[in-house]
Amino acid sequence: MKVLITGGAKGLGRAFSEVLGAQGHQLVLTGRDERALGLARAELRAAGVDVETHVADLADPRATPKVIEHLGGIDVLVNNGALGGPVGPTWQVDETEWWHAVEVNLRGTASAANAAIRAMTRGRIINVVSNAGVHRWPYVTAYSVSKAAVVKLTENLAIELKDRPIAVLSYDPGMVDIGLMRRGAGTCSDDPHVQRIARWVRSQRAGGKFTPVEQSADLLARIVRGEFDHLSGGLVTPADA
Ligand SMILES: NC(=O)c1ccc[n+]([C@@H]2O[C@H](COP(=O)([O-])OP(=O)(O)OC[C@H]3O[C@@H](n4cnc5c(N)ncnc54)[C@H](OP(=O)(O)O)[C@@H]3O)[C@@H](O)[C@H]2O)c1
Repeated sequence: MKVLITGGAKGLGRAFSEVLGAQGHQLVLTGRDERALGLARAELRAAGVDVETHVADLADPRATPKVIEHLGGIDVLVNNGALGGPVGPTWQVDETEWWHAVEVNLRGTASAANAAIRAMTRGRIINVVSNAGVHRWPYVTAYSVSKAAVVKLTENLAIELKDRPIAVLSYDPGMVDIGLMRRGAGTCSDDPHVQRIARWVRSQRAGGKFTPVEQSADLLARIVRGEFDHLSGGLVTPADA
């Protein structure tokens, strides 16, 4: 299957790419960082994976749709690319930075999904969300609010698509020791709110609440294969594995 993964060159997206590539899927990776995309492309190709990469900023609502149109459609979209957004009391963080994170995480996800649906006769859209979109995550509200909105977008799109063979699922990969969570745990910032988040992330990790990256990527691969299409509109988590 032809699978487009936004933010596919780094963090969890990169882990997803490795598992999906090893399973023989044809990959298209996007992101802002041309160097990271080039490195991921070279390493995946060396492992025999059919992969192409495109620079596409999710803050530009035309960028990912252009890639999808250029490809003439895809079978699966993994809407993985996202920003953690600013950390701190909502009324104190920079509002422009807050809104930018919401735009990338919500509008970027919606624009990519819309373009994929327009170009697709059958397939699936997988929106990578987070526990932060289901439960309150104070001090990271741009992240929490945007992920909650993506969960609702998924539910609504699934109803609108119920007469077409296109499934739309939210996927919470669990808390994984990679990307946002690893950086969150390892920060050496003096900011008390950043430190508070770091302490919480470390306590979750120490308490065994993290999901191994392999488990997270394997479950994503099962969603890509269509094993959860019957739950279209719903949220898949590692508890469903
Ligand atoms: N790590 C976890 O434990 C965890 C838990 C739950 C959910 N998630 C979700 O998993 C996904 C990946 O997170 P991660 O932890 O791997 O974070 P990460 O390491 O920060 O990776 C984020 C990815 O998104 C891309 N990205 C960010 N802004 C972008 C933009 N404006 N346009 C295009 N691409 C953009 C980045 O690529 P460029 O820098 O090249 O743009 C990067 O590949 C996110 O949706 C996150 O919410 C992660």
